[in-house]
Amino acid sequence: MLAASLALAGPATSLRVDGDFINPLGFYDAMPTFSWRLPAGVKKQTAYQIQVRCGAKMWDSGWVMSDRSTFAPYGGAPFSSRDRVAWRVRFRDENGQDSSWSEPAFFELGLLSDSDWKARWIRPSGEGDQGKEPVACLRREFPIVKKIARARIYVTARGLFELSLNGRRVGDDYFANGWTSYHKRLDTLTYDVTSQLRSGENSLSALVGTGWYAGRLTWEPKVKDFYGGSPELLLQLEVAYTDGSSETIASDGKWEGSFGGPIVSSSLYNGEEYDARRQPSDWKPVATDAAIGNARLMPKPFPPVRVCQTLSSRAISTPQPGRYVFDLGQNMVGWARVKIPVEKDKTITIHFAEMLNADGTLYTKNYRSAESTDTYTAAATGTIEWQPHFTFHGFRYVELSGLPAGVVPQKDWVTGVVLHSALQPTGKFTSSSPKLNQLQSNIVWGQRGNFVDIPTDCPQRDERLGWTGDAEVFCPTAMFNYDCLSFWKSWLESMRDDQEADGRIPHVIPNVLPRWPGDSPGWMDAATIIPWQVYVRTGDTSVLAENFEMMTKLLGWYRKQSIGGLLPKIGGFGDWLQPYGKTLKGDTPLPLIGVAYYARSAQLVADAAHVLGKDDDARLYGAEAGKVRQAFAGQYFDADGRLKNAPETQTGYVLALAFDLIPPEIKPKAAAHLAQLVRDVGIHLRTGFLGTPYLARVLEENGYAAIAYDLLFQESYPSWFFPIDQGATTMWERWNSYSRKDGFGDATMNSFNHYAYGAIGQWMYERIAGLAPDPEHPGYKHFFVRPLIGKQLDSARAELETPYGTASSAWTRKDGDVELSVVVPPNASATIEFPDGRKPQTVTAGSYRFRMGPEAGSSR
Ligand code: BGC
Repeated sequence: MLAASLALAGPATSLRVDGDFINPLGFYDAMPTFSWRLPAGVKKQTAYQIQVRCGAKMWDSGWVMSDRSTFAPYGGAPFSSRDRVAWRVRFRDENGQDSSWSEPAFFELGLLSDSDWKARWIRPSGEGDQGKEPVACLRREFPIVKKIARARIYVTARGLFELSLNGRRVGDDYFANGWTSYHKRLDTLTYDVTSQLRSGENSLSALVGTGWYAGRLTWEPKVKDFYGGSPELLLQLEVAYTDGSSETIASDGKWEGSFGGPIVSSSLYNGEEYDARRQPSDWKPVATDAAIGNARLMPKPFPPVRVCQTLSSRAISTPQPGRYVFDLGQNMVGWARVKIPVEKDKTITIHFAEMLNADGTLYTKNYRSAESTDTYTAAATGTIEWQPHFTFHGFRYVELSGLPAGVVPQKDWVTGVVLHSALQPTGKFTSSSPKLNQLQSNIVWGQRGNFVDIPTDCPQRDERLGWTGDAEVFCPTAMFNYDCLSFWKSWLESMRDDQEADGRIPHVIPNVLPRWPGDSPGWMDAATIIPWQVYVRTGDTSVLAENFEMMTKLLGWYRKQSIGGLLPKIGGFGDWLQPYGKTLKGDTPLPLIGVAYYARSAQLVADAAHVLGKDDDARLYGAEAGKVRQAFAGQYFDADGRLKNAPETQTGYVLALAFDLIPPEIKPKAAAHLAQLVRDVGIHLRTGFLGTPYLARVLEENGYAAIAYDLLFQESYPSWFFPIDQGATTMWERWNSYSRKDGFGDATMNSFNHYAYGAIGQWMYERIAGLAPDPEHPGYKHFFVRPLIGKQLDSARAELETPYGTASSAWTRKDGDVELSVVVPPNASATIEFPDGRKPQTVTAGSYRFRMGPEAGSSR
């Protein structure tokens, strides 16, 4: 490589490929992008140079005169399967001084093409118990005689797998390979097992559960085997020896299989039945399938589910004799690891619940038909430590029954194991209000519980599906809490896979409700809104490029339904769960909601086209958006800014203002009507899934910041703080899913872990603390600091790991004044919009402190 020139600044750090992968193994992208961070003290990059080495091949970008330090393109030949690549970067700062080279970073490609697979799909011959969800046990023994240089397992399943090599678990992933649209795409995992192999005999085994592939899905108990009937494995162990030779041990007819292992049944919804007395004895040669199938096999392009934390029991109660209830103090998703005394041949039953009934017993009605129960039958008397395999539960309480008589339960018998996609936490929001902080905590727990490989509506009942509307409203908030660029990109790929030929987006992705095709504005628009939000928050243009066609196809569907820009016949879920609504769909007419989202999506497609340099498209779709806006305004608003041809609902006003659908001159009037509607009901919201995310923002942007703050701090139903006052530790599906006064809401739809109303998180960090991205300079290359000081707070603070480094905005009251502290990371800039009304100021990297008089301290 080139000799380093005089190095004055420290080197770049945090080297990443495709935005957020640090030294990945089994990487998916043959043409990655490169990102890095500059050291503190550097204001701006003026040029960079990247060197990439792969074996004897090298690519050198040369000095590129650019301030780009994220998503810098690779310009060499595409990488191939198994390539191991080293790269490094250096930069030139604002004074023209060159940094030293960074430490090298690495990535290793997984298997990129179907032709890399020599393995066959295997499964035990015969069938397991069809009344259950049986788990396939597979095994193979093989000798190793030469010295190993490197060994990799490439593996995927039609179902969920866990591997074991020489008695030790391979990797720390759970629910692998995850949930994609399996007929179209199967993700593969790569594991480095170099040190796990040994010379002599080796034994490799796998458990494959039904999971999302062949297990129960949806609320119809009969919907099983949605993708296929039996779990199957595809695996390739590739061993390279020090003498240059290599060997592949693949899943094939040499393996043996059985359904007779201790896991009698393991079902995502129903739980696991484990009988330690059973050991597979009926090993038989496996059934194999020579055809690799039509689904794309690709390295998993985002982090798998892992154990992300554990919770200890806080209290034990005994509401009924022999039934011990452990309280983990937090509604969570995953499972219970138990360490308990057992008696030979006796079964321990583990029940779960998010809430307790008044008598202290478990409230499980809201699980609906999901049995969510684990059982363990002991082979011998003693103490066991056990956790299930291919199931997960949404719970705060764990009930053990069937324990040996006379035992005294101990808190350490039950540990809550929190499982979710192993994304990096990125954002923190704190304030002087304990309740607001609890709300932030509830939002983050809602995200943890519902980011189990795909974004779900809820994690506990017989649903747990990738509902598009819930994901759409929560996406911006999610992007603050965790680095979920790759998570969203993967799910959007499944959305592309499952888009209907006519352009509609199914209600859930992956689509397992095929008889119920998508038609719901606000849900389908996940296809336009999520790519846009992800782009704005990361600066990754590929998320727009990859999804552009899907976005235009959705728009085409809207266009086809429209009559003069209106959508008189549109269906959908409406403003779902609006409090006091006449139906579950709320009181805002479906056609109004439809046109609002049609206009919004058209505008986003135009904006995306503009970013992608598709100028003709940008003009075309921009004009379409304009026409639809006009139709909307003409149909639904009078000259006085009042809703017409529709009932006056908060959401009707909110959507018109949030999506910029009415002429500027009537906006203040419409906002005044909205504010009045809020006041009319004692400063309460009357919005459902679609209106709620934008309500505070719209009020504040139009001169009603104090009302926005009052709404957020409202304690009586319906409000964000109401569930907190009832003891909520997660977001609830309904504001009154439970109340101390009236007990539980209708159990048919009563999730205690539903993140949709957590969408307020966006307003909390963008406005209360004041850290807001700038769509014109995405990925926080430039951002806004625009705190809004409310009378309810003495301080607020947001901190975010942006692609450029840590940014923060924090304000605090001091002796009647307000002090504002701002941190701008290297190579980024920020414009500070001061709450005291002084002229905005744009600053480059660094830490800043401002003092403002009391006039800053009260919102309008
Ligand atoms: C889900 C929601 C979803 C809705 C569609 C429900 O069953 O839990 O969150 O968006 O259906 O209306």
